[in-house]
Amino acid sequence: MSQEQAAAGQLELEAFIRRRIAEAGGITFAEYMGHCLYHPEYGYYMAPRERIGKGGDFFTSSSVHSLFGRLVGRQFLQMGELLGGDGFTVAEQGAGEGHLALDILDALAEESPEFYRTLRYRLVEISPDNRDRQERLLAAHRERVEWCTLDELQGMEGCFLSNELVDAFPVHLVEKRDGALREVFVVSEGDGFAEELRAPSTPDIAGRFTGLGMELAEGNRAEVNLESTRWMRRVGGLLGRGFVLTIDYGYPAAELYSPLRRSGTLLCYHRHRTSEDPLRNVGLQDITAHVDFTSLQNSGEEAGLDSLYFGHQYQFLLGLGFVEGLLQLQARETDEKRARALRLTLKNLIMPDGGMGETFKALVQGKGVGRPQLLCSRSIGDISLPAGMF
Ligand SMILES: C[S@@+](CC[C@H](N)C(=O)[O-])C[C@H]1O[C@@H](n2cnc3c(N)ncnc32)[C@H](O)[C@@H]1O
Repeated sequence: MSQEQAAAGQLELEAFIRRRIAEAGGITFAEYMGHCLYHPEYGYYMAPRERIGKGGDFFTSSSVHSLFGRLVGRQFLQMGELLGGDGFTVAEQGAGEGHLALDILDALAEESPEFYRTLRYRLVEISPDNRDRQERLLAAHRERVEWCTLDELQGMEGCFLSNELVDAFPVHLVEKRDGALREVFVVSEGDGFAEELRAPSTPDIAGRFTGLGMELAEGNRAEVNLESTRWMRRVGGLLGRGFVLTIDYGYPAAELYSPLRRSGTLLCYHRHRTSEDPLRNVGLQDITAHVDFTSLQNSGEEAGLDSLYFGHQYQFLLGLGFVEGLLQLQARETDEKRARALRLTLKNLIMPDGGMGETFKALVQGKGVGRPQLLCSRSIGDISLPAGMF
């Protein structure tokens, strides 16, 4: 998309949002964020543009290195063995450009061809632009891959996967003022938009805090992702038997809504720069908020999903064989400069400060599978490393 097209799209989207505000007398931040990201023509995710990787606005783990997908594929192989039967379905929702799917499929085709032959990889995608990108990227795996709606997954057996989907759901923004919970609404102001604090649009917002047994501290701002728990209940209802693997950045509720977190976690990404102003660059920037994993687990339980594993991304990847994977890749590198570059790239996936190792979490839930010992839950002490490594 050219700069002119982007600017024209922004004006159209702003005009649309202004009309909605005039009609409704102000809209919730959640509605505003929904239009910015998912307006059918001008939304950030819907219009054709580079979003992920160097030429886009942000990196995801799967855009960092294919080892991420290879390791996730190993977890699917074990899940397939646990479920038994003669076919395993992976359903990935919000696959972006499809890199994670590609890396999983490439790795399974190479490492476990029999499992690969029985695998059905189904993608659920809201964005026509991303769907086109996925179709192009996954052309070599055409026989394994298909696109479908959530409803078509009813009764599926296998694993429901998402990586950085939930953080992209529209969130309600709230603040505690004079002892009362107030919600951020978006109104028109001059040529742009402004915030206004009003009474919450729905009792579900206060209900979220009551359900968690928590209160927001006076003066603090936070996000409430009501869509995430509706989604989790739906996914739990769709799954016949198997697993749900959710990878995203976020925290348990006690950490997310801690009194020390004064201004929430809402962030915008535009060309690898972050900003905290979602009312600018309308439709041109990603808007995200960290995920409340406690509420995801609670709503999963309501839908029959047992929490089997919850950990930092670095623990998850180490359990799946990150170190062995790194050593194998390194052994193939004859050039020391490239081997060093590889180590630095892979470090991003597990590094705590500034990397993706700690803020990112992995949650595995199960339905009708008992309490298996998952590969990802192996601790570093249980993993045999090559002699002489330490
Ligand atoms: C941040 S990107 C995910 C990145 C990707 N999983 C990766 O590993 O690179 C968010 C994705 O979720 C999709 N998405 C958002 N809401 C969705 C929904 N309700 N149903 C299906 N896809 C959705 C977006 O179009 C986009 O593909």
